[in-house]
Amino acid sequence: MNAHATPENDTTHGELHAELSGKFDTTAMATETTLLNPRFYTTDFDEMDRIDVTPVREEWDKLIAQMKSDPNKGHFKKNADWDKVDWDGMDPALRAEFIDFLVSSCTAEFSGCVLYKEMKRRGNNPDICELFNYMARDEARHAGFINDALREAGVAVNLGFLTKAKKYTYFRPKFIYYATYLSEKIGYARYITIYRHLEAHPEQRFHPIFKWFREWCNDEFSHGEAFALLMRTDPKLTTSFANKLWIRFFLTAVYSVMWVRDHARTDFHNALGVDIDWYDQEVYRKTSAIARQVFPIELDIDHPRWIPGLRRMTVAMNDMEKARKAGGIGGKIAHLSAMARAGLAFAGLYLIPVKHTTPPVNVRLEPIY
Ligand SMILES: [Fe+2]
Ligand SMILES: [Fe+2]
Repeated sequence: MNAHATPENDTTHGELHAELSGKFDTTAMATETTLLNPRFYTTDFDEMDRIDVTPVREEWDKLIAQMKSDPNKGHFKKNADWDKVDWDGMDPALRAEFIDFLVSSCTAEFSGCVLYKEMKRRGNNPDICELFNYMARDEARHAGFINDALREAGVAVNLGFLTKAKKYTYFRPKFIYYATYLSEKIGYARYITIYRHLEAHPEQRFHPIFKWFREWCNDEFSHGEAFALLMRTDPKLTTSFANKLWIRFFLTAVYSVMWVRDHARTDFHNALGVDIDWYDQEVYRKTSAIARQVFPIELDIDHPRWIPGLRRMTVAMNDMEKARKAGGIGGKIAHLSAMARAGLAFAGLYLIPVKHTTPPVNVRLEPIY
């Protein structure tokens, strides 16, 4: 029984679990491969195993020592700060978006865990194995903690099943560096921006998990640092003409997908009291400032074509999804036309002139936000 139960609407904890697990097949949600869902990656592990960290040895050893000391060892445990969650009283639209947010965050965290663990398992290089061991440890905790929150609602993701059933996308190592570096730093920026917002507006904190974000994001920050150092071992990765175009591509892709995904969750952001346009621009701004440590270019997110381009991309991608669901010949045609519009919107964003920057001699940064 709970405070919201009435004789007509008498929901016990068990019934709520049954109702939610009937509505939300979170394992299926996490397994599905779409353009917008977090993916699982695989790569050329032998090539990564051959990385020689000698050129960055001093900074490397400091970072590894910090990871080894495991500052967040006891952090991912529920304690007295974990207030009771009123899943039953939560507005159904908000509940659906919040579960979707937790599932997609859990999948993204677990995707890192799977990739890092595999690198550790396949590698022979002691530097690389040690790093990936610590990062896999952290991501396993992150995914597990989010899954605990889902379990309270009776909708935990079956992570063991996910490992076997989800499709893996192959990326060559340099693409793993660009994509993973960015997703770690964006992860940091996203978690800390929400944390700071809720620190100023605690009345909007509708779930206790947000209280854990500050220490959490420091893990993501140091994972990003590790990829920055890995990229520094081979200057070509960030200086050749072709690779600069790839970096630009990854920045545009990762930023625009984040925009589309966040703008699909209006109730969730309303409940937090966060304006999505503001939030996303703020996350880009922090990420871009951090990424100057290693990338020689940055996207101009204040350019007059930036936000209109993102909006066009959102409409086109939503139309693609609608057409996919509609099916049939009409659906196929509508899908193709929406895909062409999404492609054009992406090209428009990609072609906005970038800013050129010079990465500093010393790559390492500390989390300051
Ligand atoms: Fe993580
Ligand atoms: Fe991470």
